[in-house]
Amino acid sequence: MNKELIDQAKEKFALILQEQLARVDAMKKIQVSTDYSLLNPIIIGICFGDGIGEVISKHAETVLRHVLKDQVQSGKIAFRDIAGLTIENRVKHNKAIPDDVLEELKGCHVILKGPTTTPQAGDQWPNIESANVAMRRHLDLFANVRPVMIAKEGIDWCFFRENTEGAYVLGSRGFDVSEDLSVDFKVTTEQGSERIIRMAFEYAQKNNINRVTVVTKSNVVKTTDGRFSRVAFRVAKEYPEIKLDEWYIDIMTAKLLDPLRRKDFKVMVLPNLYGDIITDEAAQLQGGVGTAGSANIGQKWAMFEAIHGSAPRMVKEGRAKYADPCSMIRAAAMLLNHIGYLDPAKKVSMALDICGEYEKKIVITGRDNGATGQDYTNYFLSWLDNPRLEESWKEFSSKSD
Ligand code: IPM
Ligand code: MG
Repeated sequence: MNKELIDQAKEKFALILQEQLARVDAMKKIQVSTDYSLLNPIIIGICFGDGIGEVISKHAETVLRHVLKDQVQSGKIAFRDIAGLTIENRVKHNKAIPDDVLEELKGCHVILKGPTTTPQAGDQWPNIESANVAMRRHLDLFANVRPVMIAKEGIDWCFFRENTEGAYVLGSRGFDVSEDLSVDFKVTTEQGSERIIRMAFEYAQKNNINRVTVVTKSNVVKTTDGRFSRVAFRVAKEYPEIKLDEWYIDIMTAKLLDPLRRKDFKVMVLPNLYGDIITDEAAQLQGGVGTAGSANIGQKWAMFEAIHGSAPRMVKEGRAKYADPCSMIRAAAMLLNHIGYLDPAKKVSMALDICGEYEKKIVITGRDNGATGQDYTNYFLSWLDNPRLEESWKEFSSKSD
């Protein structure tokens, strides 16, 4: 009996190992990064998602189209709306991302993606894989870059979360070996670790930051986290002006709450699941998960999104129109930055700071005692078009010091 179960498990495990070794081989091949300045037009896909995603990504699209209207007119930028990433359509095709939607996504250069519902045990949906996780894997978006800033405390964090390995890459591939035994897999590769760690160091170097922190649990999860940490110390040798320190994820979550220590952290690089958890904590400190954007970057494609989910509860309670579009607008600013439109990116960020942190004339609460996302977007656009935007931003930020 046990032998039969073990043989079945071995077969599944062998397949997983084959796939992962093939992935390593693919990563070893030299890949060229997309040079956006050579593209004509740059195709921006807007993927609406579902739940509050449909509402807030429309607001972010309005903002993007607004700041890029000249480039759209001159043919430098083209927008493509991508429907079909709703939970209903995904369930209909029984796929995390239906094939035709995936082809459409691959036809874009960058993507702005609204939150999508991730089925969980016990809900009304079959247990298909998360669209986020699938998209990150299919487009090899290995770097999940999540900045968090709390200006008044001098906090300026940038998290580099590994996005295609760890506990996630095989998160839907674990299995019940017997009626009583379940097994999941966590994968770490030399190449997968190196590319995200290198990106963190490059970012630190470019921004004159002399500290990078690698976050693991390598004292306990010795093999996979051990490798991640080892690679970090190897890569660090190439950046002698930057000091690398290692923190364990448990104490790191505590230290982010320590007002005396937290602003000393700058650049953090960490495996997938730890990055997922700690960036929600960090975003909450910034003002809530609705305020944070997230970049998913690969060599060929890049996707920008909110860090939160589709909030089905808000939709069920009829509150979708009160959802905060700032996370998606922040993601739009990151997209602009990534494709080299630094000026519009800066304007969007400044208007976000003024509306959300400084002036706060209209406030979103997520409920009917606050503004709707539409009203907020109008307020935001009025600042974006204000000729005194930069001057006012400077005034506001000097007062808040
Ligand atoms: C995130 C989200 C996703 C993740 C979910 C929706 C699968 O929490 O982007 O952080 O866990 O990565
Ligand atoms: Mg998360």
